[in-house]
Amino acid sequence: MYTTQQEKQYFDICKKWLTAPATVLDITLLKDALKYHEWKYYVMNSPTLADYEYDQLYKQLEAIEGSHPELITPDSPTQRVANDLSGDLDPVAHVVPMLSLANSYNAEDLASFDKSVKRYLNIPEEQDIEYSVEPKFDGGSIAVLYEDDFLIRAATRGNGTMGEEMTANARTMPSIPLKAPLAELGIYKAEMRGEALIRKDNFTKINKAREASGQTVFANPRNAATGGLRTKDPNETRNRGLEAFIFQLAYAVDKDGNDKLQELSTHYESIELMGRLGFKIPTGQMKKCKNIEEVAKYCADWEVKRESYEYEVDGLVVKVNDLKLQERSGSTQHHPRWAIAYKFKAKQATSVLNDIEYQVGKIGSITPVAKIEPVHLAGVTVSSISLHNEDFIKSKDIRINDTVLVERAGDVITYIVKSMEELRDGSQIPVEYPKVCPINTDEENPVTLIKEEGESAWRCPKCTCGAQDLQRMIFHVSKNAMDIDGFGKSYVETFHSHGWLKDISDIYNLDYNAIESLEGFGSKSAEKLKSSINKAKNNPIHRLLHSLSIHHLGKKASKLIAAEINHVLDLQNWNEEKFVAIKDIGPVVAINVSAYFADDDNIALIKRMEERGVNMTQTEADQPLVVSEDAPLSGKTILFTGSLQKMGRKEAQKLAEQNGAKNISAVSSNLNILVVGEKAGSKLKKAQALGTVKIMTEDEFLVMIR
Ligand code: IVH
Repeated sequence: MYTTQQEKQYFDICKKWLTAPATVLDITLLKDALKYHEWKYYVMNSPTLADYEYDQLYKQLEAIEGSHPELITPDSPTQRVANDLSGDLDPVAHVVPMLSLANSYNAEDLASFDKSVKRYLNIPEEQDIEYSVEPKFDGGSIAVLYEDDFLIRAATRGNGTMGEEMTANARTMPSIPLKAPLAELGIYKAEMRGEALIRKDNFTKINKAREASGQTVFANPRNAATGGLRTKDPNETRNRGLEAFIFQLAYAVDKDGNDKLQELSTHYESIELMGRLGFKIPTGQMKKCKNIEEVAKYCADWEVKRESYEYEVDGLVVKVNDLKLQERSGSTQHHPRWAIAYKFKAKQATSVLNDIEYQVGKIGSITPVAKIEPVHLAGVTVSSISLHNEDFIKSKDIRINDTVLVERAGDVITYIVKSMEELRDGSQIPVEYPKVCPINTDEENPVTLIKEEGESAWRCPKCTCGAQDLQRMIFHVSKNAMDIDGFGKSYVETFHSHGWLKDISDIYNLDYNAIESLEGFGSKSAEKLKSSINKAKNNPIHRLLHSLSIHHLGKKASKLIAAEINHVLDLQNWNEEKFVAIKDIGPVVAINVSAYFADDDNIALIKRMEERGVNMTQTEADQPLVVSEDAPLSGKTILFTGSLQKMGRKEAQKLAEQNGAKNISAVSSNLNILVVGEKAGSKLKKAQALGTVKIMTEDEFLVMIR
């Protein structure tokens, strides 16, 4: 359909317009470029521009056409809704056109939308309009038609006027009723609009299964959903576990063709009614807001909890709630005047991969890291992204100088979705994965990398350059390991660069006078560090075991082992059988821990630490916790936030654990209880927004466990 040269041209010019907007002289090229990107998005399922970037260009075209209406042509992207027609399925005409939505990105955009609604409806500015707000699901849109209570047809949106018939596929989706009691409401024929999508956890499962059977994995849940809607094999739709949320009752008439929509007063009510008829609706996520300020607040609150929601949502949809007002305001050719999408901060963007750097971990694993042209994503600037391992680079055919699509998933994880083959210009260089340790620059004595069976990372088996020791020290002081308060990565790096830290035992032999005289330090910070280190010396031995960076030995296994020994060096006499005799300890941990304690260097290290005051004997905290099944918090997950007044955070967590609860670190749909202290912040907001978390004060918590 498009040549590589055209693809590149449309991509490059759009990137340019994002910083230096198009002018009226560019209008033809701008229209063609937008059409190309629509085709990539809707037909090919392979966008090369982020949604947010596309929206910006669309707005540029709207603005140019606004001041030069004589240049509007019937084929302009502003004159029709997006197109997903591929010619594979039968075309059908929609009962009422399926329009798109205008976009907003912040409270000011919402305020100007509110103003324009009032202007159009002749409502005074000071008068409030009630809005209904709901998630903007990121899947594929569908229209389902019912006659005489039966589902008679389902279609995708297509170009808004003509859709693609996919009734057989829709019939496999359990959330779409095959029969709905519409006749009870006097409705003979009705069309509902909605979005079909795949739950995030289900998507992960599908991709895992595809990976295991050698199929290509889907880039995101939206692609998996739209593909599932338009497949010719209804079993494939069923297997993907598609679910459809209904977000609009678009058409309803009685047997004589009389409009039944008029009998409903609000959008909110109409969706609730759909819910009662058996359709899937965003229960608990829809909100009636008495004015646009309340809408803006709901949008801001919702954005915080976006990641913890089970479905992919790219924003919210704000709709005038009163159906009569909706009708009065009508639509443009492109979108209704009574609704607007509030788009969350961009999660995807394109960038260029400039280089690949390698990092070494505490057990020698080599991780390739992509160095990209910095891009702004969901509120942060990203310039480095992990490429995980050699297989990841190979499977995505990522090359240096490639244009890459970058996505920020979850709260923190950023990853490369794909590299764009169609934009290659000959300057791309395939990645040659290193065979020798890329960190160790001693060319005379290169260390050959190894890869163990069943592992995905190459490892440097014998570090001679100190890079692994540095990583081990960073891990050793971290929260997860010895939890030395105030001792972070930058301190380790500074002390290491002064030659004071060669291995983890040196952490307990620091010269605080020397630290005190370092730039940026002083007697206070040196004193504070000393007391944190002294405190850590008394840690339970399960923390110490974990902090040794023994390959495969995690927190849980460290606890299980610590519960069985009096002194850490007892493990010198343990063989593999003794380890696997502990419930939940497997052979891999057994092999690695016994190998560690068979190495004289490691024993010397532990002895040095002991001499320097680090506890090596079992403490009370190392003894297994016995919690009865009827403990008050048995089976519950809990999180403490804000500053607690009656106990320290750790003490509270321990109490919770002793009473059967599991402490978790983030607010998500997995959290059962949030205990709030003073000045609780975003965690409390997020939990309130979720609506499923039991929120209690410190006192209520204490009463509960008593
Ligand atoms: S209302 C005339 N509500 O967003 C009303 N759309 O950009 C137009 N979408 O194609 C749609 N969630 O597929 C509406 N709660 C929601 C939605 C929603 C997702 C999709 C819909 C539409 C696109 C518009």
